[in-house]
Amino acid sequence: MPTVVITGAEQGLGLELARAYAASGYDVLAGCLKPDTTGIRTLVQEHPAVTAIPLDVTREGSVAALADRFAGKAVDVLINNAGVHFRKWSVPETVSFADWELTLQVNTLGPARVSFALRDSLALAGAAKLVTISSDWGSVSNHPGTAYDYCSSKAAVNSVMRGLAINWAKQGISVLMIHPGWMRTTMGGADAPTLPSEGAQLVKSAIDLATPQDNGRYIDTSGNDMPW
Ligand SMILES: NC(=O)c1ccc[n+]([C@@H]2O[C@H](COP(=O)([O-])OP(=O)(O)OC[C@H]3O[C@@H](n4cnc5c(N)ncnc54)[C@H](OP(=O)(O)O)[C@@H]3O)[C@@H](O)[C@H]2O)c1
Repeated sequence: MPTVVITGAEQGLGLELARAYAASGYDVLAGCLKPDTTGIRTLVQEHPAVTAIPLDVTREGSVAALADRFAGKAVDVLINNAGVHFRKWSVPETVSFADWELTLQVNTLGPARVSFALRDSLALAGAAKLVTISSDWGSVSNHPGTAYDYCSSKAAVNSVMRGLAINWAKQGISVLMIHPGWMRTTMGGADAPTLPSEGAQLVKSAIDLATPQDNGRYIDTSGNDMPW
């Protein structure tokens, strides 16, 4: 049975990715900031292949505990999905620097921390996929002119993942950055056109179709290149 690790899996896209991978016959390790949340608890009850564990991607100890579970074991797919977007500002220049720092901790350093910790397990899989859920707002050339905190965090994580794509290809690890589209989640809001369950199917299809030739690409869910 292949194994997938998903961060930020108690709600939104992460929860629906966990559901989609469980339905496809994967062992799912769902890392959750709050594993007692109803959605993930129900999924664990429905699918014996889903295990929910506490995971705060900003904390070394929490990530080390995740890596310890996989010591000597392969991870076929890692999905760095956990993310925050505070939007508490009325104009972008009134952004709180404390919120900005936390955004970088979760959206940029979090994926780096989890990826580094699971590198040996990804290498053991032979042809692993390391996926980071990015955003169209991570594109520097298409900057929306707002949300300096969120946009910089996603642009920076794209840069980190490009570096890993160069260095980890020789271990059989393919790195992919995916813009999942605008989804009706806590982050995306009620006006978004796409349900998280639909977004998860699209993201999963893009991951399924990816080959080592796609290593280092930043794509949308149709497999089109996003502008850097
Ligand atoms: N929604 C969109 O339209 C959209 C568009 C482009 C990209 N994205 C990206 O897609 C990903 C999923 O977003 P979403 O829409 O599903 O957002 P969401 O509903 O807000 O879910 C985000 C998840 O990340 C978790 N999380 C936050 N801080 C964490 C931490 N320190 N450690 C571990 N988990 C943490 C949250 O936990 P809690 O529930 O406990 O807070 C939540 O489960 C994010 O990376 C986001 O940037 C979303």
